[in-house]
Amino acid sequence: MTDATVNATAATAAASGASATERFLTDKTGTAADTDIARVNVLATELIGAVHDVIRRHQVTYEEYNALKAWLISVGQDGEWPLFLDVWVEHVVEEVASAARKGSKGTIEGPYYVPGAPELPNTGTLPMRPDEAGTPLLFQGQVTSTSGEPLAGARLEMWQADDDGLYSQFAPGIPEWNLRGSVIADDEGRFAVTTIQPAPYQIPTDGSCGRLIAAVGWHAWRPAHLHLRVTAPGHAALTTQLYFKGGEYVQDDVARAVKPELVLDPKPVADGGHQATYDFVLDPAS
Ligand code: DHB
Ligand code: FE
Repeated sequence: MTDATVNATAATAAASGASATERFLTDKTGTAADTDIARVNVLATELIGAVHDVIRRHQVTYEEYNALKAWLISVGQDGEWPLFLDVWVEHVVEEVASAARKGSKGTIEGPYYVPGAPELPNTGTLPMRPDEAGTPLLFQGQVTSTSGEPLAGARLEMWQADDDGLYSQFAPGIPEWNLRGSVIADDEGRFAVTTIQPAPYQIPTDGSCGRLIAAVGWHAWRPAHLHLRVTAPGHAALTTQLYFKGGEYVQDDVARAVKPELVLDPKPVADGGHQATYDFVLDPAS
């Protein structure tokens, strides 16, 4: 992936961080309005208490405290709060949120969802460049309810990285809706979408999160994945990701978002591409 190195250099942490921050502020901050203040009190008190415990347990010094302070300031300056939280925190929020789900497994949304992607019929091709690199993938399946009824007209919003591991609207030089689409299933809830297999995603290495990872010797990679948000009237929305069996980092995702039920097993097909099937089961709306 020599090209990836070139593009990844152009896609700076500060630029993708700024886009992810703006996206979050546009779509998600409304949800904070109905926060229960008594609960804020409990959670903030315990969170601050947990920090105190770490300081006492490890006898944290002033030098270390100031290094932390400088690092937290730089996370904000780089716009990397969405990235930091979605990589290291969101998976546990998702675990709690989805504990009662009986249908398909969900996983983290991450910072790169954009609402309003172009609509495609049930057998469509995601918008892509004429010379889009990567192994072609035919991704197909059916959407049903937990009682097994097909969900006619279910919507599958898909977004994914390209063959360089980069997302449109968050890395420069990629057409606006590249590898993003909203697929409408047919009367039996079936869909068949043509796309390409994404490459693994690397957290930007030139920002604060990347500096932390490099300094302590962790790795910065997520396995290749398709993002999906599946919705149908009267049913709970499902935000999930699908991974590729045997792929790099499937066993070792920096964001801890892989679940065994979410790993596709694509088979080679005649044209040199792959085909994978996944059926989605949506819980009733609560
Ligand atoms: C991040 C990126 C992703 O593509 C993803 O799925 C989850 C998290 C991130 O950079 O935070
Ligand atoms: Fe992703």
